[in-house]
Amino acid sequence: MRKWLQKQRAKSQLRRAFQAAGLYVTYRSGERELKVFPKIHSVINDSDRIEYAFTLVNGMDPKEVLKKEYVFQQVFGQHVQLEGDYKRFTLTIYHRGLPNELSYSFEKIKPHLEGLALPIICGMDRYGRYIAYDAIQEPHLLIAGESGSGKSTQLRSILTTLIQYYDESKLNIYCADLKMSEFHIFKRCRQVKAVCTTPGQLKRTLWFIQAEMNRRSRMLHEKEVAHINDLPESARPPIILVCIDELVVVKDEKDIMDTLVQLVAIGRALNIIVILSMQRPSHDILDTKIRANLTVRMGFRAADLSNAKIIGTPGAEKISIEQRGRFLLKREGLVELQAPFLSLERAQKILEAYKVADRGNVLQAGLEMTNPQDHVSEEMILGVLDDADQT
Ligand SMILES: Nc1ncnc2c1ncn2[C@@H]1O[C@H](COP(=O)(O)OP(=O)(O)O)[C@@H](O)[C@H]1O
Ligand SMILES: [Mg+2]
Repeated sequence: MRKWLQKQRAKSQLRRAFQAAGLYVTYRSGERELKVFPKIHSVINDSDRIEYAFTLVNGMDPKEVLKKEYVFQQVFGQHVQLEGDYKRFTLTIYHRGLPNELSYSFEKIKPHLEGLALPIICGMDRYGRYIAYDAIQEPHLLIAGESGSGKSTQLRSILTTLIQYYDESKLNIYCADLKMSEFHIFKRCRQVKAVCTTPGQLKRTLWFIQAEMNRRSRMLHEKEVAHINDLPESARPPIILVCIDELVVVKDEKDIMDTLVQLVAIGRALNIIVILSMQRPSHDILDTKIRANLTVRMGFRAADLSNAKIIGTPGAEKISIEQRGRFLLKREGLVELQAPFLSLERAQKILEAYKVADRGNVLQAGLEMTNPQDHVSEEMILGVLDDADQT
């Protein structure tokens, strides 16, 4: 009975919207004028939304309905979606919008990572769903936005999630934090092979990765396959994730930028994936050869429309300064999401369980990947890791 009443109430609300939008046909019947509204076929009332299906009466113009979407918004609130074309339409009203803050929880995120080879957790959408994608399928990510908009926090939850998800046989992370504030928490995690805080360290790390790239390319050539994933699982080297926060610091380092161009161009087939963050990825800072290969974008708050467009996420300029962690995710289309919030302190606690006691193991892991023919000497690797250890 209550359900039935709810349904009737929902139906009459929709009729009010039809009325306000002028979506009806009038007939005369003697003295009286009759209004015929579109026919409502179904009302599905879920915990998170109401979904209506309706069809137009003969003689109504479908284009008129779509034009009147704003009226539905006035009647039902901001979170309204209207779809349809010829005669039949669905109108969805979401009870909730985006959460203002979303506390990080690996337990809640984990089920959404299943089946993704390199899962990147993004955040929650307005349906209350977690959104994650596979960076092996959609390689190389750009995270951009004003200072204080949530870029480093997002990187922190992406990396902390991956460290809890994969061990070092599956994933090796090389990260650089050139403002020297954030990534020290990843030091000595088994999956993390380098934490660079100076351009010099980053340069050597990238040389090392370039050598690894050459080694993997040769491997594909010898085995006559096109992608690392075409090798049998036992022969597959770990995925390499290179993650650089505030790339702008090294924008004038030609060696670094040249290596990055190569990495993003051919890394994909080799399971070497890059994540870059910066405030404004303008042409003078980020080479178009790099930018074109950053297929996924996260646009946090942007200063204005032109900056938002440069990121590839127009609309990011509308995010307010209070909406920390709010961003637009660009893959096929644009979706607005709220990023999970993981504080430095909580991340540090979570990561404790993944740390090696002494440096010996880390060095060993780094050296195993080196091939003498790659012209990368042991000192280079030792250098990377030694440097990475002092802050
Ligand atoms: N997802 C989030 N949810 C809530 N608050 C956030 C979120 N991300 C960042 N913040 C807040 O904003 C501050 C700046 O975030 P940060 O990641 O350092 O920004 P950026 O790296 O873009 O300068 C953080 O200290 C935190 O207080
Ligand atoms: Mg930052």
